[in-house]
Amino acid sequence: MRTHYCGELRKEQIGEKVTLYGWVDRRRDHGGVIFLDLRDRTGIVQIVSDPERTPGSYQLAESLRNEYVVKIEGRATERPPESLNPNLPTGQVEIYADLIELLGPVRKQLPFQVSTADTEPVREELRLKYRYLDLRRDRMSRNIQTRHQVVKTIRRFLEDEWGFIEVETPILTRSTPEGARDYLVPSRANPGGWFALPQSPQLFKQLLMVAGCDRYYQIARCFRDEDLRADRQPEFTQLDMEMSFLSLEEILELNEALVCHIFKTIKGIDIPRPFPRLTYAEAMERYGTDRPDTRYGLELVDVSDLMKDSGFKVFSGAIAAGGIVKVLPVPEGDGAISNVSIKPGGDLFKEAAEAGAKGLAYIRVKEGGKIDTIGAIKNNLSAEQKEELLARTNAKPGHLLLFAADSIETVNKTLDRLRQAIARQLELIDREKINLLWVTDFPMFEWNADEKRLEALHHPFTAPNVDDLGDLKNARAQAYDLVYNGLEIGGGSLRIYQRDIQEKVFEAIGLSPEEANRQFGFLLDAFEYGTPPHGGIAYGLDRLVMLLLGEESIRDVIPFPKTQQARCLLTSAPAEVEKQQLKELYVASTYKPKS
Ligand code: AMO
Repeated sequence: MRTHYCGELRKEQIGEKVTLYGWVDRRRDHGGVIFLDLRDRTGIVQIVSDPERTPGSYQLAESLRNEYVVKIEGRATERPPESLNPNLPTGQVEIYADLIELLGPVRKQLPFQVSTADTEPVREELRLKYRYLDLRRDRMSRNIQTRHQVVKTIRRFLEDEWGFIEVETPILTRSTPEGARDYLVPSRANPGGWFALPQSPQLFKQLLMVAGCDRYYQIARCFRDEDLRADRQPEFTQLDMEMSFLSLEEILELNEALVCHIFKTIKGIDIPRPFPRLTYAEAMERYGTDRPDTRYGLELVDVSDLMKDSGFKVFSGAIAAGGIVKVLPVPEGDGAISNVSIKPGGDLFKEAAEAGAKGLAYIRVKEGGKIDTIGAIKNNLSAEQKEELLARTNAKPGHLLLFAADSIETVNKTLDRLRQAIARQLELIDREKINLLWVTDFPMFEWNADEKRLEALHHPFTAPNVDDLGDLKNARAQAYDLVYNGLEIGGGSLRIYQRDIQEKVFEAIGLSPEEANRQFGFLLDAFEYGTPPHGGIAYGLDRLVMLLLGEESIRDVIPFPKTQQARCLLTSAPAEVEKQQLKELYVASTYKPKS
C-alpha cells in the first residue's frame, strides 16, 4: 500500500519506512550512486540507490529511464547539508530505496521531455497530440487540480450554504437560441430528425423552475460551433444557475458572495463587496465596449457636438451620416507613441483599421496649449473649439489625442481596440489587480444588419425592464454580465415568466406566433401551469479558472481541448465515418474534397 504521495514528504517523516508510486522524472548517476526524482501528481521527491546501502534496488535503479513507472519501498532519510534543496517542498528528505519494482516501462521514444527540470519549450500541437504526457507536467497537472478545487468549492458553497441542488439536463436536445451555430446529431430512430447539442441548458433550467426545483445549478457542458479564440472552445463548461423568487439585487448579492468565496478559497484574496457596476450605456460611452478592463484609465470622450460643424470633413461628414466622433486621450503618449505607429502601416494604425476605421486622426498637445497635427485639423479648429477640446479631454502637454470618426459601432470598436493595445504597450495594466464589475441594463435587442431585423442581445427569454414596456423595441433588459479584467466571465438575467410578454418579445425579433410556437411551444405551454418569477446566470468555468490561474488560453485549463481549428489532435477527431453509418442515419454528405 502507498504510505505517502511523493510531494507530501517532509522532515517529520525522517526515519519512517515509506512506500511510494510514481514516474521517474529524471535519473542521475553520480559515480555509482543513482539519484531518481520520483514524481506523482503532488510533486517530486529524491530517491537514492547505491550498491552498499541499498544493494536490493541498485541493479534495477541503474536500468531505469525517464518516465518509467515504479513502486519504491524505502526509508525517509535526512539529506546531508550540501544536498538540501530549498526550492523543493520535499527538499529536506531523500528516500533510500530498499526495493524498486518496475511497473511500467517506456517502450517508445518520448516525443518531448516530460520533466520540466530543464525548461524546454514544446509546441502546442505536440502537447495536444500527447496530452497524457503534457498533463503529467507540473503546470498542467496543477491547473487541472486547481480546476477541480474550483468546482469543489462551488459545489460545497451552493449546496451547503444556499440550498442549491445539481440537476442534469439533456445533451441530445433541441436547438437553444444562444446565437451560435449548433452542433447537430442525426437520429437513427427518427429518420430525418436531428438533435442539437445544447448551447446552454437555458430552456431546461427554466422548466426546472416551473417544476418547483427552486434553486438549480449544474456544471454543464455546452456546445457552440463558432469561430475560436484563446477564450473560446467549441465545447466548454458553464457553471449554470437558476433561482426562483429572488430579485435582481438578491441574485447579484448571492453571486458576489459565491465569487468572493471562490477567490478566498483558491487564492486567499478578499475581494471588496459590493462589486462596482456600470450600465451598458455608460460602459459603451466611456470605454467603447460592454466588457471594459478598468484596471487602467484611458477613458473615451465624445466630442461629436464640438465637431459637427467642423470644416474638417472627416469629422463633420461622419456626424452628418449619423455617426459620432470620439477621442482617446493618452497621457504621456507624446513621447511614448511614435508617429510611425499611428500612421498607415504602423501597429496602432493597423489595430484601428482592423476594427474598421478608415483613418486615425491625432493631435499632440504641446507646451502652452499648442497643438501639433495635420493642417486640415489645425486650420479648421477655432481657438474656442481647441480650448473646449483640451478641457474636455483633460489634455495636458504630452498628451496624445487619438480620434475615431465613423458609425457609433466602428468608433467604439476602434477606440476599444486602441485603448487595449496602448495599455499593453505603455504597460499601464497592473497584473496584480483583480477587477470585477457588473455591467447592467443591456438593451433587449440589437440590430442585425445582415438579416435586417432586431435580435435578442442575450436571449429572447430575458425580461425587459418594467419601466420600458411601453417601448419594447428600445427597452433595457434586466440582464447582467460579470466582467473580470476585461473578459466576460458570466452573464444572466431575470426571465420572462408571463406568456403575453414572451409573445411580444418573439414578435419584436420577427418570430411569427406559428414559428415561436413551433420552436418554443413547450416552454410557452409550461408557463401556463403556474410559473414562479425566476432568474439566473451562467459562468464560463474555463474562463474563470484560466483567469484565476493567470493563464492566457482556456486550452491550458481544459484537460483535452480542441485546437483553433476545432480539432482534437489526440484522437484525430472529427474523422470520417463509414458510409454504412451514414446510411443508417439517413444522411448523405455533399462534401467534395479539393483535388
Ligand atoms: P452566455 O451565452 O453569456 O449565457 O454564456 C455564459 C458564459 O459562458 C462563457 N462562454 C464560453 N466559454 C468558452 N467558450 C465559448 N465558446 C463560450 N461561450 C460562452 C462566457 C459567458 O459569459 N444561458 C445563458 C446564461 C443565462 O442567461 O443564465 C448563457 O449561456 O464566459
